Amino acid sequence: MKKFLTCCVLLLSIWSFKYVSSNRGKIPPYFPQPKSKKVENLDSNSIELGRVLFHDAQFSADQLVSCASCHSPFNSFAHTDHSISHGVFDSIGRRNAPALFNLAWQDKFMHDGAAHNLEAQSIAPLTSATEMGTTLQNVLNALNSSPLYLDLFKNAFGTAPSIPKALEALEAFQLNLISYESKYDQVILGAQEFTAQESNGFKVFNENCKSCHPPPLFSTYDFAYNGLPIDSNLLDLGRYELTKNSCDSMQFKIPSLRNLSYTYPYMHDGRFQNLRQVLSHYSPSNGILEKSPLKKPISEDNKSDLIAFLKTLNDPNFVFNPSHQFPKWTLSYNTNQHEN
Ligand code: HEC
Ligand code: HEC
Repeated sequence: MKKFLTCCVLLLSIWSFKYVSSNRGKIPPYFPQPKSKKVENLDSNSIELGRVLFHDAQFSADQLVSCASCHSPFNSFAHTDHSISHGVFDSIGRRNAPALFNLAWQDKFMHDGAAHNLEAQSIAPLTSATEMGTTLQNVLNALNSSPLYLDLFKNAFGTAPSIPKALEALEAFQLNLISYESKYDQVILGAQEFTAQESNGFKVFNENCKSCHPPPLFSTYDFAYNGLPIDSNLLDLGRYELTKNSCDSMQFKIPSLRNLSYTYPYMHDGRFQNLRQVLSHYSPSNGILEKSPLKKPISEDNKSDLIAFLKTLNDPNFVFNPSHQFPKWTLSYNTNQHEN
């Protein structure tokens, strides 16, 4: 009976591997060329290993924090409980955890672009005292003493666990997070239509927001200043902290506007709780634009329409995709069945 169950679990997981791998041919024709070519050729076993690593809290110093603690699949891999991220032993970071999707179309990561390499990027949260607070040696030891990981590394790479391969798998899982099934996408493909309100909202969007947040990714993924006043506690100068070039002061990476209903609070420090507050920043009700990048104010009616349009960029299929979630099958993984 035990053997039979293990077989079922194995078959199920093989089936789910196939499910994941069939995802990757689906990059829509109207998406630009990805910056990372790896996305076109991801191995389903590496993706699955990456998923297990991404959701595993045992690597963190207090065994409570995984990548998914701050990047939850149900929030489009952002975090909504706190404006500023919380790591091991309740340590507090300095910025809001960004949503993770369509990463293959980006080549600069973090709000200020401090990371250029998605594969190496994972070292930072693993070893940062305010995130997971561990060492790579501890991670390697944990991997090597886990029958589950010994099997997963063997499946994915045909080798024993190693840090470079763990980073490769985490990257594969993250590159496979592609959001392309929103209502907006259906409209582009001719399968659905905008309501009158959404259509007008799209017009308002094109007039005011498109220069920095262009479709289909809804970001240039460049850096810009969108007029926010500096937070007097955090004193975060954004890209300037990296380049020390005064032109970069208060410039932050332009985020995508896909999945906004799941990724609040907004901006690098999570200062806005909802889209009304965001639009009051871009176009205050007193009509005075001051530092806003907009050329003229947006009327209250047009703001409502703009919000209706922004909601067409939500992709529930992406957010509730079971193959992105905690890999439940690892809980019933029978270590006694592990031979050799
Ligand atoms: C304690 C919360 C926390 C944990 C744990 C955490 N992150 Fe993050 N992550 C953040 C924050 C905050 C940022 C933005 C940092 C900045 O801009 O300086 C970020 C940024 C990122 C980015 C860049 C995204 C972009 O759009 O530029 C990636 C990729 C990422 N994290 C992946 C991971 C992975 C993989 C793990 C696990 C190995 C992980 N994170 C663990 C909070 C966390
Ligand atoms: C000059 C370029 C620019 C223009 C124009 C612009 N934005 Fe932004 N937007 C940004 C930047 C940069 C950020 C990130 C700022 C930060 O992290 O502090 C941002 C952040 C946002 C966010 C927060 C997203 C998140 O995940 O935190 C929303 C929502 C948003 N913009 C909507 C809009 C809308 C709607 C318009 C048009 C009314 C617009 N933006 C016009 C540059 C721009």
